Amino acid sequence: MKYRQLGNSGVRVSAVALGTGGQWGGRVDVPAAKRIVAAALDHGINYIDTADIYGTWYDGRPLAEEFLGEALQGIPRDHYVLGTKGFNTVPIQEGPNSWGASRYHLMNALDASLRRLRLDHVDLYQIHRFDEATPMEETMRTLDEMVRSGKVRYIGASNYAAWQICRCNDLAERYGWPAFITTQAHYNLLEREAEKELVPFCRTMKVGLLPYFPLANGLLAGRYEQGQPPPPDSRAAAFERTRRYLNRYATAQNYALLAKLTAFAEDRGHTLAELAIAWLLTEPATATVITGVSSVEHMIANAAAADWALSEQEQAEIRQLLEGQSD
Ligand SMILES: NC(=O)c1ccc[n+]([C@@H]2O[C@H](COP(=O)([O-])OP(=O)(O)OC[C@H]3O[C@@H](n4cnc5c(N)ncnc54)[C@H](OP(=O)(O)O)[C@@H]3O)[C@@H](O)[C@H]2O)c1
Repeated sequence: MKYRQLGNSGVRVSAVALGTGGQWGGRVDVPAAKRIVAAALDHGINYIDTADIYGTWYDGRPLAEEFLGEALQGIPRDHYVLGTKGFNTVPIQEGPNSWGASRYHLMNALDASLRRLRLDHVDLYQIHRFDEATPMEETMRTLDEMVRSGKVRYIGASNYAAWQICRCNDLAERYGWPAFITTQAHYNLLEREAEKELVPFCRTMKVGLLPYFPLANGLLAGRYEQGQPPPPDSRAAAFERTRRYLNRYATAQNYALLAKLTAFAEDRGHTLAELAIAWLLTEPATATVITGVSSVEHMIANAAAADWALSEQEQAEIRQLLEGQSD
């Protein structure tokens, strides 16, 4: 496994991370979660991503953090770097203050996450999405208190625009508060909107980029064939949100690109999934690629993808394939 700096911090994280969104609480139960966490750590993965909202899709409870709390029992605390996120409603309720980036909500949300995770601190606490209604000063001051209290080591953003991170970090600098060291963004070979502003911003400002949906929910792992129903053991067969994702990205144009990318990877003795991960790692701002898995086999395969360092020539060929696509 290769390790990278977690943004502008001294923490080293594995180039490939374990994500707990989507599957956990559904097809991934507690025994499967334990097996996946053990396999990840065995293969050098030390960064684990979760959020208070993960797993609530199934029965309203935040099952991902609960399962992770169980799976991490007995594992030395310095063997992993754990990031969670706050913002959303957990458990699902309609209360006016049961979501958002206010001090009121975040303080409760962090304590609830720690209880479920059975930890006394999280390494990276991220604001899941930008809250237009809460003053940025309020959120950043709250995060400062969390770090001072020892419950949080570092802070990160998620789904923020570049200007939002920029403004928050300027406030942090002005007041001596901790700044966002990372951000999470939807970024993969089929979704490159982040390249317009966020990726160059991260590169220049040394904000670590944590791409999510690196495998486009499995589309970039060859899980879905054009014109065929999702395989019965696939996430799309089990999960409505994945079917909605595929409705958007499983287009004829994208399938044409997938065929070329698959041939490119196979010519070099790799899989499409390995290419999708290795390509994200060519971006210097990328701190770790968060992959979601429902099996140990996929976790091991994804960990191995970090070993493929695409050459300059290979990167240029992929750029050509991608540019051909946007014509
Ligand atoms: N910050 C945010 O707002 C945000 C949003 C979404 C996700 N995330 C994070 O990002 C993580 C990754 O996203 P994701 O899991 O939703 O999507 P993903 O990594 O793009 O896709 C995961 C799916 O790809 C398939 N897969 C994975 N490895 C494979 C392999 N080696 N070979 C073949 N198929 C493979 C699996 O499908 P099957 O299960 O069908 O086998 C798996 O469910 C999440 O777990 C979460 O931690 C963050």
